[in-house]
Amino acid sequence: MKLLVTGGAGFIGSNFVHYILKTHPTDEIVNIDALTYAGNLENLTDIRDNSRHVFVHGDITSTRDVNRLFREHRFDAVLNFAAESHVDRSLHMGPREFIKTNIMGTQILLDAARKHKVPRFLQVSTDEVYGSLGPTGAFTEETPIQPNNPYSATKAGADFMVRAAQHSHGLDAVITRCSNNFGPYQFPEKLIPLMISNALADKPLPVYGDGLHVRDWIYVMDHCSGIDTVLRKGKSGEVYNLGGNYDVPNIEIVKGILKILGKPKSLISYVKDRPGHDRRYAMDNTRAKTELGWEPAHRFEDALKETVNWYVANKTWWDRIRSGEYLKAYDKMYGWREKGDKGVQG
Ligand code: NAD
Ligand code: TYD
Repeated sequence: MKLLVTGGAGFIGSNFVHYILKTHPTDEIVNIDALTYAGNLENLTDIRDNSRHVFVHGDITSTRDVNRLFREHRFDAVLNFAAESHVDRSLHMGPREFIKTNIMGTQILLDAARKHKVPRFLQVSTDEVYGSLGPTGAFTEETPIQPNNPYSATKAGADFMVRAAQHSHGLDAVITRCSNNFGPYQFPEKLIPLMISNALADKPLPVYGDGLHVRDWIYVMDHCSGIDTVLRKGKSGEVYNLGGNYDVPNIEIVKGILKILGKPKSLISYVKDRPGHDRRYAMDNTRAKTELGWEPAHRFEDALKETVNWYVANKTWWDRIRSGEYLKAYDKMYGWREKGDKGVQG
């Protein structure tokens, strides 16, 4: 297959590119990424000379960039990973870029896929479109879409545009909704890499609110295998939930990281909560399991250890991020913090 991957210099996209090159020896990938603050070509250094992977610096919100790609290549599928992906940024820096990339960008890709009769469009979505759960139960694909923050609202908007393109125009399209990922190459603004890098630097670990918010964690390679399975076996018009079957409070994750690194719990710093912070996410994977035979393969504890080891071994990768442009964006982003707030983030 010849795949168009968008956002393939980001965390999950770059892992997916690696996954496909390794798992499907004849597949080819064209990877378009705008290289925003979250896109990093260093995530692709090891495959620079791989002739089955072509990187294109381009923006999915540019019809010119997108149309050029579709004119130059005949794709068997489009996989849309490109997004503004961080909830805190959507809250504190405003939703404009989120609306532009997550909704407009998706629509531009849908239009191009339709025009060029691409046989399959896969939208990489998130459990966050379902909103927050009470103390019991899990999201199914029938759970109402009730996003609570600007990031998840724009991801939900994109899902609806994909649904509309499939329903009204007959585009072959599938949506995957996945839970919280972790693994190599995750930008250190997200919980797990932020906590690992802060702990390694003996800096405080900022836990929002009471630390009892629950996320369902999945190792990124399991997400990649789930996307690949839906790409090849999913039914057009369907949504498939993908989750790691590991839903625990944030504080447990933070303590787990400290334990692996042999660092003291005194580094934990409870800080002001995120506004409108969703209390609990958990995924019901029944459809993907029964209809497609997909299940996450990694044990959380092993994958977390492997991930921590990766960050220890790749300090230069995240050091470069944290010392350069990233810190400036980071300061700006966390400038909302009130005086006296205990949190030190970077
Ligand atoms: P990320 O922020 O690490 O990467 C996003 C990538 O998209 C970056 O490389 C960035 O440069 C690129 N990009 C942004 N705007 C672009 C544009 N206009 N044109 C082209 N490229 C652009 O995000 P991630 O964590 O890898 O997430 C990838 C996808 O998976 C997103 O759609 C996200 O909503 C979804 N998702 C993420 C998680 C998670 O836990 N990280 C969970 C479920 C779903
Ligand atoms: P995050 O990694 O931002 O993913 P998402 O908001 O998409 O779930 O956050 C995961 C959880 O960790 C979420 O409940 C917010 C919490 N969190 C903290 O407590 N401290 C932090 O510094 C960050 C970044 C997140």
